[in-house]
Amino acid sequence: MTKSKQYEQVLQHIRALIEGETDEISLMATIACELHHGLDHFDWTGFYRVTAPELLKVGPYQGGHGCLVIPFARGVCGKCAREAETQIVADVNALPYHIACSSSTRSEIVVPVLDQAGEVRAVLDVDSDAPDAFDAVDARYLQLICSWLTPAFAG
Ligand code: SME
Repeated sequence: MTKSKQYEQVLQHIRALIEGETDEISLMATIACELHHGLDHFDWTGFYRVTAPELLKVGPYQGGHGCLVIPFARGVCGKCAREAETQIVADVNALPYHIACSSSTRSEIVVPVLDQAGEVRAVLDVDSDAPDAFDAVDARYLQLICSWLTPAFAG
């Protein structure tokens, strides 16, 4: 099955599961689970939440151990949170500021989650054990999914 087809199925499934749900943790947990088990190239899938100014803490995730705390100044997640822009890293080993939670990770994508005022409230981090696993297709679908979280963050 193509990547787009996998996303279409997973999105449909997530939409049905989260209908009417407004709790941000429940939403993030469901999204992380469905994405992780629905996409072949996802090896760590989860959210980091902004819990204090300039600070991310791990939220709902699937996969191996994830670092608990990431300051905005560090990592690909920190850069995404600082700039409020999607980050795609084809080769994490070539990026000095990447934080390695697992030695098997080769590439990653990080997408910001914005509240209704446009502030970053979380990031969605997906890591793959394959190099160059993420592209504009991943960015488009993951940004769409993250936009479904916006109403849960009142601002
Ligand atoms: N890849 C992240 C660190 C988090 S773990 O990979 C789960 C980063 O460099 O921000």
